[in-house]
Amino acid sequence: MIDLHSHILPGIDDGAKDLEESVQLAREAVKQGITKMIATPHHRNGSYYNSKDEILKAVDLLNEEMFLENIQLEIYPGQETRIYKDMVHDIELGELLSLNDDDKYIFVELPSNHVPRYTNQLLFDLQLIGLKPIIVHPERNQEFIENPETLYQFVKGGALTQVTAASVVGKFGKKIQKFTEQLIEHHQTHFVASDVHHVIRRGFYLNEAYEYIDQEFGTKWKDLLLKNPQRLIEGKMIYYEEPQRIKRKKIFGIF
Ligand SMILES: [Fe+2]
Repeated sequence: MIDLHSHILPGIDDGAKDLEESVQLAREAVKQGITKMIATPHHRNGSYYNSKDEILKAVDLLNEEMFLENIQLEIYPGQETRIYKDMVHDIELGELLSLNDDDKYIFVELPSNHVPRYTNQLLFDLQLIGLKPIIVHPERNQEFIENPETLYQFVKGGALTQVTAASVVGKFGKKIQKFTEQLIEHHQTHFVASDVHHVIRRGFYLNEAYEYIDQEFGTKWKDLLLKNPQRLIEGKMIYYEEPQRIKRKKIFGIF
């Protein structure tokens, strides 16, 4: 199993606070059946700034540690960049890190309470330079929850999305779980990942999430979502189905 989203690098964001916690997370990952993991530290989110070079170095060091500790987990480089207007410009300067540093897919994090006005244009511009944007945890964004049409338009425009395993199994509450299910059902999400920060406080839940998807949506969808991270890491095209619009029920006819 491959985990595309993690905060396993030591001491550089709100994930693992030191090497000991990184190793703890790695051992837990192996227990869960994870063999490859992309380290995606926060970048430019108002609290953390983690440049491409620093991440690449930290990933090398952690892979050495995996070898020394005899842990069968491969760490790949990535970055969770908070959306900002000049992203394309900075990518062209080589300042941002795509997933697995292969210039094909890039994580885009939105603020949790709204969607900036320039988002649509930026998602389009990223694709113009050959990068597929992956919007991380859209199910936890207030504006998408209130107006799912916004996310539908982004996905229809070619953006991909990744939901968090904990959201699938209800760890962020019923409302977020329901929206996550709607995103899966309407082909508006393409990946499930842990976004793990800490073994106990923000754990993996990946097995539980795939199990839940198997039960609720069937084995076909579980397999499709399970295979996409593998395809991404190999630089292949991912499985994709035409997104469908989420129709909200009218309540008392007032909308
Ligand atoms: Fe994250």
